Amino acid sequence: MTNDNEWNELQNTLHRYVEGSKKETARGRVASYIPELAKAPHDALGISLMNGDGQTLMAGDCELRFTMQSISKVFTFILALMDRGEDAVFAKVGKEPTGDDFNSMLKLELVEPGIPFNPFINAGAIAITSMIAGRDADEKAERILQFLRRVSGNSGLAVKDEVYRSEYETAHRNRSLAYFLKDNGVLEDDVDRILDVYFRHCAVEVTCSDVAKMALVLAYGGVDPISGERLIPRRFVQITKTFMITCGMYNASGAFAIEVGLPAKSGVSGGILTLVPGRYGIGVVGPALNRKGNSVAGVHVLQQLSEHFDWSLF
Ligand code: DON
Repeated sequence: MTNDNEWNELQNTLHRYVEGSKKETARGRVASYIPELAKAPHDALGISLMNGDGQTLMAGDCELRFTMQSISKVFTFILALMDRGEDAVFAKVGKEPTGDDFNSMLKLELVEPGIPFNPFINAGAIAITSMIAGRDADEKAERILQFLRRVSGNSGLAVKDEVYRSEYETAHRNRSLAYFLKDNGVLEDDVDRILDVYFRHCAVEVTCSDVAKMALVLAYGGVDPISGERLIPRRFVQITKTFMITCGMYNASGAFAIEVGLPAKSGVSGGILTLVPGRYGIGVVGPALNRKGNSVAGVHVLQQLSEHFDWSLF
């Protein structure tokens, strides 16, 4: 199929795929450990797909606004690489999947030298946040926000205060993880300041189309194909996409690689960022999650699309 034919077929069928996967939302549950997230609509499913010419296809509940949560970790990781370089970053986080839940602290004590296994589990993402350049929490958070605005092309992106505060007040597990990391010498700054920045970047509010645009830049190796501007060094995109395959869907990354076969990153608000290299950026939202914390209907619709259009990299 030529790219043009595929785009036409996507245009004609995307709504049907979303309708077909929507009923899967009944098998999932909306995250409630951050109380504000529990307000999201249980039965929503939306998708936005953007090509290198900037054309966008949308289907389902794609006007739904949601917070990036763990999807933000893709970009804090890239920004830390740009700020500090590979050697400094990989002195503090590893390169391997854990097989454990995203908020687990098990291996921090069990496996020497007590650094997080990868930058996408909570422990790793907190360590990465501590490496973002900036004089104080405000400057670090502002630099992250500016970077997200630049990659998404949306200068209106902002932190959703209710979600930020809700997480701030209930993040007992993340606080314990961060103190453990501090004791292991992984964190460079004060625990409260680092967590404040971390909660803020998790609470940046987006739509599927913002996520699709961010994914498009990764699909084109760090260049915004619409403006032609390089936003991220190619090597850092390559590293990030590899983590997205091995750890992006937490301890369901292996199954996702088999069933969908694309680099992806999920978040507990039900978002998924994924991409077809050299072709599309894709943003999905479906707040009902499966037991591993991934959007149940979102994974389902990506499975169907990948199978039909033969998108798997493997
Ligand atoms: O730290 C947390 O628990 C959330 N702010 C982000 C977690 C998340 O999105 C994990 N995703 N599946």
